Amino acid sequence: MRKLSEMVLVTGGAGYIGAHVCIALLDAGLDVVVLDNLSNSNKASLERVQSICGRSLVFRHADIRHEEVICDVLRSCGVTAVIHLAGLKAVGDSNVRPLSYYENNVLGTMRLVSAMKRANVKTLVFSSSATVYGIPKYLPLDENHPLCPTNPYGRTKLVIEEMLKDLCGSDDDWRIANLRYFNPVGAHESGLVGEAPLGVPNNLLPFVAQVAIGRREKLQIWGNDYDTPDGTGVRDFIHVVDLASGHLSALRHLRQPGVLTVNLGTGNGSSVLDIVRTFEAASGRSVPYEVRERRAGDVAACYADPTFAMETLGWKSIRSLEQMCADHWRWQLQNPDGYLGSELPKVRER
Ligand code: NAD
Ligand code: WQD
Repeated sequence: MRKLSEMVLVTGGAGYIGAHVCIALLDAGLDVVVLDNLSNSNKASLERVQSICGRSLVFRHADIRHEEVICDVLRSCGVTAVIHLAGLKAVGDSNVRPLSYYENNVLGTMRLVSAMKRANVKTLVFSSSATVYGIPKYLPLDENHPLCPTNPYGRTKLVIEEMLKDLCGSDDDWRIANLRYFNPVGAHESGLVGEAPLGVPNNLLPFVAQVAIGRREKLQIWGNDYDTPDGTGVRDFIHVVDLASGHLSALRHLRQPGVLTVNLGTGNGSSVLDIVRTFEAASGRSVPYEVRERRAGDVAACYADPTFAMETLGWKSIRSLEQMCADHWRWQLQNPDGYLGSELPKVRER
């Protein structure tokens, strides 16, 4: 097992998944520097991370497209490994403004790895997505499934994966993990850190939670005529805390030069109606819904084969759907306005 790095740069660390990754790293005794441009997050998330862990981290308000700034952070903080989550992630939005996605995700990652090369920091964990598989040809999806993303966002993830492979091919010192996340949901069990979408949520769980708390009237279920047990879409929902621990496992196991590409999912498929019922039970609230036409671009079912993650990283998810919904609900209940109005210790900025 690889000795853990001492100082980890987390790009996008103020975001939903990033904040949970920071908790996992700090709890494991690692030091953390976060670089985030706060385009889709609030610095208050990091104040809460520090409060949960009882440890401080360093925050740099900056953009991954600024190579010189990244170089400076890598060198001045003595960074030894990078977990790269920064980027844009909304599928529908990526159809509307694809160039922003290529610029933030692809160009941003190019700038980041160029800076890493210059600073001789060559250990990287990258947030990829199950969306790189596109329409499943078989289930569960293993890492050898053909790659054919169906939207610009997914294509940026695939381009980045390919770029990182080429980088490893050019220099044996690089150790890179591409982690293909399935559907991250839930929140930290403290209820202090969770997903705070701006505007109308695109994803199922945040929408369901806002219906349960009365902020939205009802859920629109996008289709109940799929070839699935109850007709609604089936997905592999994974607790964000399990997902975060997968990053720590990946860092620990990055001992071979080259690229390791791993699914992070549970292997279980749950339907939209499963989520509605489980959320109602967890919250004690009702989630009214209406069935509408299928959403363009959706697939009937998508879930992981998580075997390789267990074999290579010794990692598997352990939290149930009930716990995902209970933790998501606690976060929603305690923070009806997300991070607005947060009053916890200030984060150290430099
Ligand atoms: P998020 O939007 O909450 O977090 C992303 C963070 O990156 C935000 O804090 C944002 O401010 C920051 N950011 C964006 N562009 C930046 C830039 N150019 N420079 C610096 N910071 C920038 O999203 P998330 O759900 O936490 O996702 C994190 C990563 O995981 C993303 O790369 C996303 O594509 C990937 N991913 C997410 C999901 C999901 O369903 N949430 C699934 C698969 C993969
Ligand atoms: C799940 C199910 C919907 C909302 C997306 C991205 C993917 C990844 C994760 C980043 C589907 C149904 C949803 C609603 C509904 N992100 N639904 N009513 O589409 O599986 O994945 O997020 O990498 O790339 O595409 O997740 O939460 O949007 O949808 O009925 O209001 O819930 O139709 O069956 P999806 P989702």
